[in-house]
Amino acid sequence: MEIISSVPELQRRSEQLRREGKHIAVVPTMGYLHAGHGSLMKLAKAEADVLITTIFVNPTQFGPGEDFERYPRDIDSDKKLASEAGTDILFTPIVAEMYPEGFQTFVEMGEVFSILEGKFRPTHFRGVATVVAKLCSITKPHVAVFGQKDAQQAFIIQQMVRDLNFDLRVVVAPIAREPDGLAMSSRNVYLSADERRRAASLFQSLQHAKKSILEGAKDVNALRTEMEQIILGIHPFGRSAQPSEIDYVAFVTPLGFQELNNLTGSSVYVLLAVRFSKTRLIDNMLIEIPNR
Ligand code: PAJ
Repeated sequence: MEIISSVPELQRRSEQLRREGKHIAVVPTMGYLHAGHGSLMKLAKAEADVLITTIFVNPTQFGPGEDFERYPRDIDSDKKLASEAGTDILFTPIVAEMYPEGFQTFVEMGEVFSILEGKFRPTHFRGVATVVAKLCSITKPHVAVFGQKDAQQAFIIQQMVRDLNFDLRVVVAPIAREPDGLAMSSRNVYLSADERRRAASLFQSLQHAKKSILEGAKDVNALRTEMEQIILGIHPFGRSAQPSEIDYVAFVTPLGFQELNNLTGSSVYVLLAVRFSKTRLIDNMLIEIPNR
């Protein structure tokens, strides 16, 4: 595996690969890689001749008071995982090269930037879309792979690729989960043992929604209440332990990311965000709506 940290060097390398007729896939990440990232790399590798994985903890997508400084980092373990999952080139730029002094261009978008995650993290998607646009200009991919774990992010990137005519294909990969159903995330390491045990309730609530919808449930408000009860129903150990707090449980259309009050159409994204002390977890499930 080649490791490159310079922007112009990778641009030259990608250009050379393209001239040789090689198909390039990119998997953008913020590092602290886990098997979920690994599954994206394997999928990406199957789509292309050369796999570029990027590791960059992107400051512009963190709000004030968020975890940019303490975001977990472990480059040695990342190199091992990336290489074993088929990465050919690992791109590890520094902040000063991605955002040199005088940087002032950002990607903006309509309403989808300010709903759900965007409501709780107002500058987040502007940072995400901007850095993904930059990473595409640097890696020149034919295909870019993102996880359904961050469904709103994947939607936004697909929208940007369409709206700005990026000449590449976006693939959205399934969510990799721990044995108890918790979606893998670099942020899971923040959870205390008790919070980690309770975090399984997120997936349980999504499974409940799936079962109910398949059985014909249509009332979004009733479903949301039941899901909230499942999430809050596993109580913390000990008096001092804090209960979790739900930021949202939402139902949106997969194609337009528009919130639904009644289940119509052929499928629905059920999305949620829950805070355990300072750790914010998100998860979702795409659920078919039976036709009856
Ligand atoms: P990060 O959180 O490191 O995630 C990198 C990619 O891995 C994203 O596409 C994310 O959806 C995917 N991913 C994370 N957990 C996953 C899981 N359990 N199963 C499958 N895929 C999973 O998302 C980001 O970084 C950043 O916002 C980024 C796109 C790199 C821009 O900075």
